[in-house]
Amino acid sequence: MSGPPGRPSGLVSLIAARSRGGVIGRDGGMPWHLPADLKYFKRTTMGHPMIMGRRTFESMGVLPGRRSIVVTRQPDWSADGVEVAHSLDHALALTGDESVFIVGGAQIYEQALPFADRILLTEIDIDVDGDTFFPAFDPQRWREVSREPQDGFAWVVYERQPPRTTLYAGPRVGREARQKIGASVAVRDADRLLLTRRQDNALWCLPGGGIDPGETFAEAAVREAREETGLAVEVESVLAVYTDPDKIAVYPDGHSSQTYGVCFRAHVVGGEAGRSDEVTEVAWLTADEASRVPIIPLHRPLVHAAFESPSAPTLFV
Ligand SMILES: NC(=O)c1ccc[n+]([C@@H]2O[C@H](COP(=O)([O-])OP(=O)(O)OC[C@H]3O[C@@H](n4cnc5c(N)ncnc54)[C@H](OP(=O)(O)O)[C@@H]3O)[C@@H](O)[C@H]2O)c1
Repeated sequence: MSGPPGRPSGLVSLIAARSRGGVIGRDGGMPWHLPADLKYFKRTTMGHPMIMGRRTFESMGVLPGRRSIVVTRQPDWSADGVEVAHSLDHALALTGDESVFIVGGAQIYEQALPFADRILLTEIDIDVDGDTFFPAFDPQRWREVSREPQDGFAWVVYERQPPRTTLYAGPRVGREARQKIGASVAVRDADRLLLTRRQDNALWCLPGGGIDPGETFAEAAVREAREETGLAVEVESVLAVYTDPDKIAVYPDGHSSQTYGVCFRAHVVGGEAGRSDEVTEVAWLTADEASRVPIIPLHRPLVHAAFESPSAPTLFV
């Protein structure tokens, strides 16, 4: 397996303005009017897709020059000039691997925070009453990388501190498991490698550093499976392909210069499991632990699938 190909192309950024006490909203709107900040918001987000909650959309309407993706649970909700998503997962999937801005409100910030690379915060030097707050974020995990003081406020950028996943890195941890699961999951610290394989539901996710020239995703999956597990597999369908460590995009089979991982459905046609010495970090996760792994939402069903049948056979143990 080759190494991770540098910085991810498509960033997930939260962008918000908050007062000293963390207030971002009151009575469905914002309790201040800062034209300079609205201009900053406009020039920062221009040309990029924006994801917002339905309430935030109701408060600001359609903003030109940017795709607006509105998240709502209402099946029949629609509005001119916006795309509708019925979950954050769905909204992120609609943006593929483009850089995307999460523009609020509180509910959406909260749900998107685990998947964000950057937080762009306008920190306003006022104390105001409000009913909506920016979620707390861990200062150990987020580093201030820039601060531009303005008159009465500052534009501040925070970046997520690596490692982005802290989870039983290093030696095998099977002994520590509280509940064994029917799949092997390898989680690597820096590049969020997740390796999982189920014998019975044939769901696989394998890390991959690159697609060889001319290779399709399915062919890459076969090769990766052989290299990573020693097993010969026949791929039934490619479910998803990572184009950076934090995003997963569902593509039809195709070609791409580089991927971090390929998720696919396959069955074993030969070979012997567990030969690869590259699979060195195997974590037995409880369902609760796995639910907290900050992988991108679309991947969660694959992890959850690993818990459906605790008696399923295992690999790499
Ligand atoms: N200061 C800032 O930078 C800033 C930025 C943005 C917003 N705001 C303020 O924040 C307030 C609005 O925030 P809010 O937290 O009340 O609302 P919100 O996050 O904008 O929208 C909440 C709505 O989003 C939908 N939703 C949330 N989670 C969902 C999910 N998992 N799947 C599908 N739909 C989902 C639901 O819509 P349905 O009810 O339609 O199902 C929910 O009612 C306003 O006061 C606004 O002015 C401030």
